Amino acid sequence: MSVKIIGTGSALPEKIVTNQDLAQMVETSDEWIRERTGIGSRHISTGETVVSLAARACEKALENAGREAAEVELLLVATCTPEQGIPCAACQVQNLLGATGAAAFDLNAACAGFLFALHTACAYIQSGIYSNALIVGSEVLSKIIDWSDRSTCVLFGDGAGAVLVERAEKPGILGFAQHSDGSRGGVLRCDGRELRNPYVSVPARSPYVQMDGREVFAFAVRQIPACISEVLGQTGIAPDEVDLYVLHQANRRIIEGIAKRLTVEMDRFPTNLERVGNMSSAAIPVLLDELNREGRLREGMTLVLSGFGAGLTYGACTVRW
Ligand code: COA
Repeated sequence: MSVKIIGTGSALPEKIVTNQDLAQMVETSDEWIRERTGIGSRHISTGETVVSLAARACEKALENAGREAAEVELLLVATCTPEQGIPCAACQVQNLLGATGAAAFDLNAACAGFLFALHTACAYIQSGIYSNALIVGSEVLSKIIDWSDRSTCVLFGDGAGAVLVERAEKPGILGFAQHSDGSRGGVLRCDGRELRNPYVSVPARSPYVQMDGREVFAFAVRQIPACISEVLGQTGIAPDEVDLYVLHQANRRIIEGIAKRLTVEMDRFPTNLERVGNMSSAAIPVLLDELNREGRLREGMTLVLSGFGAGLTYGACTVRW
């Protein structure tokens, strides 16, 4: 028994913020941002939420698959920027969609969150518990960014991407590799709330993203090729037999570094980070949806999805489209 992606959808906030706009806010330039990251603009929320973006992306994925919300059995929201602690974003999305039959919960593995959620959904389906699942990566990172910190505010964007997966006879998702390295959590972090109760008062540290960019860069370029080789090794597929690599969209130079290590040409690595920046868990499903809607995904193609992020977390997945 296999699990197949049968629909994709995405949603971005209306507001587009260019590098030139950012150069009005902090000491930076379009040239610096493009050269170091490949990013030219990003969509930023002017009121759209993790829940509203996720619901729109899910509606489109359902429409693309020709399925009704009421048929969904499992609904997972991958996010590290939920508006509320409780209820979880997935239950709110479930309510907006009218997916009354779905079990819904959130999962946070930062930028690898979508892949970890996809893996979770596959495990549920392959074990026979559910026959389908709606998985959405949704982020409003702009609320955890320090807009006066030029080293981080230029990198991120807001958005959501969703896929509907279903039990299938034909090959679909072929395999996963996923890993976490909590010992290195400090290199990319965003501290949470204060602890205040009748016994203790511990103030919150910075509520904004703090990052050692060079460490993250080196980690991604080293670990992702190894992780992709691991997942390809499960099915004996060679790197140059993969039609498209749908990678986490953090930095064009990171993607180039990964391509070089795999000795695969960059034309197999589609990107959209020029237009949307790094949308954490939304990056992979938004790019997948764009490729799908552009007609670039043909039946029988072999894809690799791979992402990395805070945690540190990283993973890869092979897909027969
Ligand atoms: N505009 C202009 N200058 C900037 C800047 C900006 N937006 N951000 C940083 N700089 C400056 C730094 O202050 C530094 O100045 P200094 O040498 O005077 O101290 C200089 O540019 C070089 O900084 P450095 O950190 O060496 O740049 P870099 O080539 O490593 O690029 C990143 C920085 C953040 C773009 C890069 O490290 C990166 O993309 N890392 C991965 C981050 C990431 O993807 N995180 C999310 C993962 S999910």
